[in-house]
Amino acid sequence: MKVHKTKSRRVMDRTYWDAVAEDYDGEIFSVRDNDAAGLVEGHIARFADATHIAADLGCGVGKFTPLLAKSFARVQACDVSSKLLAKARRACGSHGNVEFRQTNLGRVPHPFEPVDFVLCVNVLIMADLDMRMSALRAVTAQVKRGGHLVLVTPSAESMHYTQFRRVEWGLRAGMDCEEAVRESVRDLHQGIRPINSVPTKHHLREELIVLLQSFGLEVSSVEKLIYPWTVEFSRPPIWLQGPYPWDWLVVALRK
Ligand SMILES: C[S@@+](CC[C@H](N)C(=O)[O-])C[C@H]1O[C@@H](n2cnc3c(N)ncnc32)[C@H](O)[C@@H]1O
Repeated sequence: MKVHKTKSRRVMDRTYWDAVAEDYDGEIFSVRDNDAAGLVEGHIARFADATHIAADLGCGVGKFTPLLAKSFARVQACDVSSKLLAKARRACGSHGNVEFRQTNLGRVPHPFEPVDFVLCVNVLIMADLDMRMSALRAVTAQVKRGGHLVLVTPSAESMHYTQFRRVEWGLRAGMDCEEAVRESVRDLHQGIRPINSVPTKHHLREELIVLLQSFGLEVSSVEKLIYPWTVEFSRPPIWLQGPYPWDWLVVALRK
């Protein structure tokens, strides 16, 4: 998944996310706008319940928050960036059932009381393992017994597959093998790949299953959320067809 277009900032902390607020749509990849099959919306519709409470963890500018507000009795929305939260608040307009809270999921183990439905889309992407595990603990702790988590995260398999297609492209364009393979392998075994200079975590399918199990959630499905090649390459050649790159979309239940 391509998240950023900028080259200057390197760590995904609050300062970074506040800074991208100015040109969020220009800099940050939107799952909502690129989910052509409407997988996330489909899962929100499936779990929608006018008596249930939902949470949008790392809500950003509120791409999904208004949809949650329409689908649930109340919504708890949080983000590390106050500037993004201000935009999310505006996006929710007249929906009076959303509570916004500035929270660092890596530091606050329990932002809210556990809720029925938790949405967390491309938030667990920070390279720092300590911060990422704390954030995962907070995200899973928000799911109450009998509740569901819908988690979207960049796919490590898609990352490696995209590199394969990049090398293929280089070879077709006449590069020699060494030239075509010129890609840093630092951190790659952890699924961390710099996207335009910002180290970004990508998860393996099985890694997600093990991680969620270890936090007491049972994975009920793992789907590919598929994107066109333009998400990875600015001008993909015409011959570059499917299979296409993807994020993982996991639905998990706390029994
Ligand atoms: C790629 S954006 C996705 C935003 C939104 N979920 C969406 O799909 O449009 C990642 C979001 O996670 C938030 N975030 C990153 N680290 C966080 C943390 N430690 N605690 C809370 N929010 C965080 C960022 O501020 C940003 O809004």
